[in-house]
Amino acid sequence: MVRRAIYPGSFDPLTNGHLDIIARACNLFDEVIVAILVNPGKQPMFSVDERVKILSDVLTPHFTQITIEPFEGLLVDYARKRQAQAIIRGVRSVKDYEYELPMILMNRRLNPDVETVLLVASEDNSYISSSLIKEVFSLGGSIEGLVPETVIKRMKEKLKDARC
Ligand code: PNS
Repeated sequence: MVRRAIYPGSFDPLTNGHLDIIARACNLFDEVIVAILVNPGKQPMFSVDERVKILSDVLTPHFTQITIEPFEGLLVDYARKRQAQAIIRGVRSVKDYEYELPMILMNRRLNPDVETVLLVASEDNSYISSSLIKEVFSLGGSIEGLVPETVIKRMKEKLKDARC
């Protein structure tokens, strides 16, 4: 049986913390679907199409068992459709765990066939979050070494476009 996991998230933008979790998930599962949430209620920095492109550019050269796709609606329904046995989430702290736990339990209630697997990123990546990256970048701070180079390039282009 193919062991298939879904790694869901906003990835706005992709960070080295996400990459760390993806690498760990690839060591555990035969197939990993990186699923980008389509959330009409949120105004993201990058459109879903832009995020799919960024993730593909960064991940495809390094991982053979990865698929990247957008998803909407309930995560457990999407997991069922994709015949995934597991949902991967990264935790950096007790605060993350407290945020994840109600979702894990709710997802289990909605679909007991899907197990959530929590993975811990390396301590070097443990303070990185997409929201912190956006804040530091918007205020002119360096995000070098915290996100892939292509993300920095894309964020600079966004800033340039916004100033035009
Ligand atoms: O990277 P994020 O924004 O923390 O990811 C959150 C995500 C995508 C895992 C969560 O919002 C989600 O699963 N959304 C899909 C809708 C859903 O299933 N909601 C019920 C969760 S119990």
